[in-house]
Parts: sequence; structure tokens; C-alpha cells
Amino acid sequence: MTTSHARPLDELTDLVPLSEITGSADPKAAFARLRDRWGQVAPVELEPGVPAWLVMGYREIVQVSRNDRVFSRNSANWRLAEVLQNPDSTVAALMTPWEHAYYADGERHRRLRAPVDDGVAGLNDHEVSRATQAICRELIAKFEDRCEADLVTEYAVHVPMLAVANWFGMGIDEGAQVAQAIIQVFSADKDSQEAPETLVRLLTAHMNAHRETPGDDMTTVFLRHPSLENDSEIMWAMILMLAGGYEAMISWIAQTLRVMLTDTRFSGRLRGGRLGLDDALDEVLWRNPPWTNMPGGYALSDTEVAGQLIRKGDAVILSFAAANLDPSVHSDDPWLEIGNRAHISYGTGPHVCPAHQPSRIIARIAVETVLTRLHDLRLAVPAGEITTMPSIWTMCPASLPVRFTGFS
Ligand code: HEM
Repeated sequence: MTTSHARPLDELTDLVPLSEITGSADPKAAFARLRDRWGQVAPVELEPGVPAWLVMGYREIVQVSRNDRVFSRNSANWRLAEVLQNPDSTVAALMTPWEHAYYADGERHRRLRAPVDDGVAGLNDHEVSRATQAICRELIAKFEDRCEADLVTEYAVHVPMLAVANWFGMGIDEGAQVAQAIIQVFSADKDSQEAPETLVRLLTAHMNAHRETPGDDMTTVFLRHPSLENDSEIMWAMILMLAGGYEAMISWIAQTLRVMLTDTRFSGRLRGGRLGLDDALDEVLWRNPPWTNMPGGYALSDTEVAGQLIRKGDAVILSFAAANLDPSVHSDDPWLEIGNRAHISYGTGPHVCPAHQPSRIIARIAVETVLTRLHDLRLAVPAGEITTMPSIWTMCPASLPVRFTGFS
């Protein structure tokens, strides 16, 4: 890439909408076209009239993610921050700077991140597996008699928040109430005005109950943590954990189920094939990462990445999907990549995902429980008819209709 394209973002025209790439039947080819035209950093459109830089190179993602002196996570530093006030904005949910670690920089980030790391370190893998399996079984019990189901809308969307709610000592009913309130607060749903109040009421009651009767769980870790200064910070840290992995987990579980049901290299294993569930989980992380793209920062000063002029106030989006295709980390032969976990799907730098280990347990148990409990499981529609949810951040199947002959 030369600097011949090094023009300010707002002077560039004819930009590809990012939704065209995530909605494309062949995103790999779409990323390749963008790379051919612009190099590893390309201008794209997030919404009509809202440009940003898409960082597609592995090295360049590392460069941006590890430099929080230049790239702030706080969108108050975005030149186009007023977009987030638009009630129809599709990027507001993820780009509005809420009061938790994900949107914090430097010292404030380190302070708010410490309880998250300590909470995850205190998780017991065995207990995470056991609780996730109980949640999965309860969800399956709701549809197993029908011998048909939609494994996205009836299953994958419910597992992640219920599983994380359990880390906080919430049972399935309480977890479901909190999950519903969080989804409403962060959706653009105009009917959800009372949702923030409901969420605060539920989390306050939960914290108070734990003050009286502490548990061996993440709520107690957060309540006692010297880094969290008040109830509001504790609540936001809980919301970050519950919501932080939500969309990514749905996508990972749904994609892996799709692969296990449609790709003969994997589906054959149940009948003696060679590749197993862990290989399928890894292949999805590589080829269809749960976060396709993610906001990576807002430039605090003019800088250059891969020959592009990133001006103060520009937004930068990290494309983990594109970076995983980067030839410098990726061989084109899937057989050579079995066991290779050098992907960048969990990010890198100070904001790297704190939950890679427990998130894998949840995804693995969620997929395994379906495959072992439902007999003769198969897709109820041709694989080519599966569409993705409309999003520029993930490429999650919108539905996975299945049929099965019985259950155990
Ligand atoms: C239970 C599941 C999960 C939880 C609780 C969770 C939690 C979090 C939290 C709290 C953060 C913010 C960290 C910070 O800003 O310092 C984060 C960041 C992130 N997570 Fe996760 N996560 C989960 C699953 C996943 C999965 C499955 C993926 C993809 C494979 C993923 C990828 C990421 C990425 C890419 C980031 C941002 C990294 C960066 O900015 O460089 N997460 N996650």
C-alpha cells in the first residue's frame, strides 16, 4: 500500500457499506476486493453518510489495539459522535460510550478491568460446565417433544446470558429477567422506555441480597472489589459481563451448529469421521469469527496506519474476520490448520477478551448438548437458504430450523 490514497476520510466517495460485506454470500471475496483497492486499511460506510476506517491486516489490528494513547475507546472522541443521538442509528448500541471498561482508556480502563479479570479468574471450569449444561437441557426441554425447533431463536440466543448470569449466582428465572431487561435497554425498541429502570431494580435487588448473604460468585467478587467505587460501577461491570459476550456467543454457537450439521467433514464424525467439535469451534473462530468487526477506537491525533491518513476524530473498525484471512497468519488449507489457534478473534492489547476460556466451555457445552440429546438431528431447510441476521458486527445465522426423531 502506498500513500497515494492518503486522503482524509470525509473527502473519499463511493465507499462500500460495511453491511454489504457482512451480508455478502462471499465475504472473503468482498474483503479481497476492498484490500485490492485500498490495502490493509480501507474506508467503508457504517451507515449512509457515516464513514470509518476498516482495519483488515493482522499487524495493523495489533498496531491499533495496543496503542490506546492514539486510539481511544471512548466515542466522545469521534468526530461524528452526534450520529449516536439518532434514534434510528444502527451503530449506537455498540458505539455509545457506556460507563464500563470497554469504553475506558488508560488508568480508568485498568481500574475497571481489574474486577473483570479477578471475577473470571475465580470461575471454576467444572461448575461453569455443569451449570451451562443444566441451562441447555432446560432450554431443550421446551421444544424436544415437538421434534422440530429453531436452534437460533429457541436456543442459541438464550444460552449466553443465562450462562453468564449463573456466574453471578443468578438462577435461570432471575437470569432470564435480567437478560430480557438488558436486551431491551440496548435494543432500539421504542417500547422499552421502562427497561433501564427495570434493569436497575433487578440488579440492585440482586446486589442487596448478596450483601446480606454473600456467595462464592462474581457478584460477591465485584461487591468486595477495591477498584469498583460505587453501586453504579458494580452494576455496569455486571452489565459488561452479561452483554459483552452476548452477540459473539450466539454467533459462535449458531455457526458451530451450522457447521456440525452441514459440513460432512464434521457431521461425518458422529458416524466415524475424523474432525470433532473442538475442530469445528476452532474453524468457526478462524473463518467466521463471532465478532466479524468491532469498533476499535477514535483517533486522538492524526496518525498513519498502512499508508492511510487517520485524522484526529476518525473512527477505526477492527475486522477480525478479514485479519484472520490475512495470508501472514493463515494457510488456505483447513486440514493444515487443525489445532492452530493463532487467530485474532478475541482481540489483542489491553481490551483483549477476558473470557476466552469460559466462553469456550459455554460454546462447547451448548453445541454438544444439542448434538447428544436430539436424535437424527438435521437441518429442515437447504443449507443455502440460511440467512444471516442484519448486522455489521456479526454474521450470525438468523435461524437454524431443524428436525429430529426423538431425544434422550
Ligand atoms: C461469555 C462470553 C464472553 C464474555 C463474558 C466476554 C466478555 C468480554 C468483556 C468484558 C470484554 C471487554 C474487555 C475490555 O474492554 O477490557 C470483551 C472484549 C472482547 N471480547 Fe469477549 N466475552 C465473551 C465472549 C467472547 C467471544 C466468544 C469472542 C470471540 C471469539 C469475544 C471477543 C471479544 C473481543 C474481540 C473483545 C474486544 C477485544 C479488543 O478490544 O481488542 N468475546 N469480552
